[in-house]
Amino acid sequence: MSSQPISTTQAAHSQAAAGLSCRDLVSIRDLRPQDIEDIFHLAGLMKARPSRFRAALAGKQIVMFFEKPSLRTRLTFEAGMASMGGWTSFVDQTHGRLDGREKLSDIAHNLERWVDGIILRTFAHRTVEGMAEHACIPVINALSELEHPCQALADYFTLRERFGDLKKICLAYVGDGNNVAHSLLLTCASVGSKIRIATPPQYAPDAHIVADARDIAAHTGATIEIVTDPREAVFGVDAVYTDAWTSMGHEHESEERDRIFPPYQMNRELVAGAAPHAVFMHCLPAHRGMEITDEVIDSERSVVFDQAESRLHVQKAILLLLLGGEASRLPVRSAHA
Ligand code: CP
Ligand code: NVA
Repeated sequence: MSSQPISTTQAAHSQAAAGLSCRDLVSIRDLRPQDIEDIFHLAGLMKARPSRFRAALAGKQIVMFFEKPSLRTRLTFEAGMASMGGWTSFVDQTHGRLDGREKLSDIAHNLERWVDGIILRTFAHRTVEGMAEHACIPVINALSELEHPCQALADYFTLRERFGDLKKICLAYVGDGNNVAHSLLLTCASVGSKIRIATPPQYAPDAHIVADARDIAAHTGATIEIVTDPREAVFGVDAVYTDAWTSMGHEHESEERDRIFPPYQMNRELVAGAAPHAVFMHCLPAHRGMEITDEVIDSERSVVFDQAESRLHVQKAILLLLLGGEASRLPVRSAHA
């Protein structure tokens, strides 16, 4: 083991770890603005020097229960955990709800005896909240009907890499006021950025989320505008974002949604209203020809795969900060670049 002195970088990591250690990430509302800055800072270090962190979670184990399909979220958590020496167990829960066989509290009190963290993708947000209430180990929301916090953090990390100061940019989100829109809204509020969300009136973001975002914005200086006209939303912005018109769990509504959402399609005409340097964003999976055209998603200004890459770096940072504790910092201090 090397006896190198602790660098500024490593000291910053130690400070950050003290703040988030053993906490849950159910909602962006669980994070203070400084926590988000710590996640972004550590994610940047991990992206630049992944080898420094290869034993950072050695001996740590997480379990993932997914009630819905996933490509990006599952694989980035699995690859991220493996790259830090940790171990992951994936439980395909798509055949039935997690609490369909036994009480959620009983599951929680089993899991906390075996593993170091729980990652859930669920239909009901309440399931993630309930697990967090009952389990004494960190619980991470990997998408619920209400929020997708890991996605939004990766998206704002991507924007920060591209533009630097998040306080100076404006993101337009057009389409369904869904889980992704909610987490973007709350993240924007926490980092003091600007967001305009345009949805059909009956698909507006949840009123409680908007109210919470406005409360946070009052402290951070963020600007939040909720409108119904997609052209008004994208006018002059630095980034335009969309997501599926029909989220998982709402498939029975897809015919009606396909009739209502076409004016919100992210196509050449709509994005022409954004700033000339604007980037195009989508959390993926994309429904090409529906919420976004091939021309826009495949354009040089599309950053959708940067967003997907950011999922890995940001989730590694989240895992280390939540699960790492004191032990995880020792290998980081002594690792060679
Ligand atoms: N963006 C996202 O969460 O993708 P997956 O559904 O593939 O995990
Ligand atoms: N809003 C989408 C996001 C998929 C990553 C859904 O919930 O299906």
